[in-house]
Amino acid sequence: MEDPVLTLENIARWDAPGESRDAIDAVESGGVLYLPRLAFALFEDETRLLRPDLLADGVRNISFAGSSALKGVAGGAQTEAAVVKMMGRFRAQSTELVSGLFPAYAPHLRLAPTSLRPKQVSSRRQSVRADDRRLHVDAFPTRPNRGERILRVFTNINPHGESRVWRVGEPFEDLARRYLPRAAPYSAWKARALHLLHVTKSLRSEYDHLMLQLHDLMKADEAYQRDAPQRTVHFAPGTTWVCFSDHTLHAAMSGQFMLEQTFHLPVAKQYDPGASPLAILTRLTGHALAG
Ligand code: SIN
Ligand code: FE
Repeated sequence: MEDPVLTLENIARWDAPGESRDAIDAVESGGVLYLPRLAFALFEDETRLLRPDLLADGVRNISFAGSSALKGVAGGAQTEAAVVKMMGRFRAQSTELVSGLFPAYAPHLRLAPTSLRPKQVSSRRQSVRADDRRLHVDAFPTRPNRGERILRVFTNINPHGESRVWRVGEPFEDLARRYLPRAAPYSAWKARALHLLHVTKSLRSEYDHLMLQLHDLMKADEAYQRDAPQRTVHFAPGTTWVCFSDHTLHAAMSGQFMLEQTFHLPVAKQYDPGASPLAILTRLTGHALAG
């Protein structure tokens, strides 16, 4: 397997990194762009926020959707204000980073909520389907996206020197060729029923259906999880990485305290729309999937 990780040592600032053809090719082909010198700087008083009990009971992550839309923080108004400040800064800096690296995306990016993840990943208990320690591509049962891309910036802010450990898997096309023959066929009436019953927030397209099938089939396949081509990657504290998480096969194995920013991008606004999961699945099935 070709190395799915491209390391760029020269990027040490969030602003104006400059358009990089290598970075574009890496992420659009499903790779991970790793920036080992790009740290998210914490202010002195922010390190005290990095405790697991910052999380409110029963939530998995802290989420910040801009202005004052903060969810999942325990500890009162002062703590919330400090978290908003920190997450808002990360939100702004991530936007600068992707707009600088990929200027053609900039006018078309749709900013999704920012997430802060104070839980230790290795000890989380979850169903197979929800377990992100299994290799998967991101696909969400309630949120169809009809092929719209999911671009994510991650930064490790662990204060105790602990890396975030990922596995990165084989190329998406290899995965699709493996599991498409086993995927349940799309049913338009089922998709309509799920929407009417408010199970999905909008109509699930055939693309969304196939992405969920791939997600579920690969997660449930123990032999695939164990034996498929993959590489383990250690993202140390003080480093940042970027990928299209609907394209990169990934699994988060361990680590604690990470910030993540999601951007959505229309497929047509990629440098090479033909490299997208939508284009790959359309080619492999031989018909339109997102209409
Ligand atoms: C995921 O997107 O599957 C999890 C990423 C992480 O928590 O490191
Ligand atoms: Fe994921």
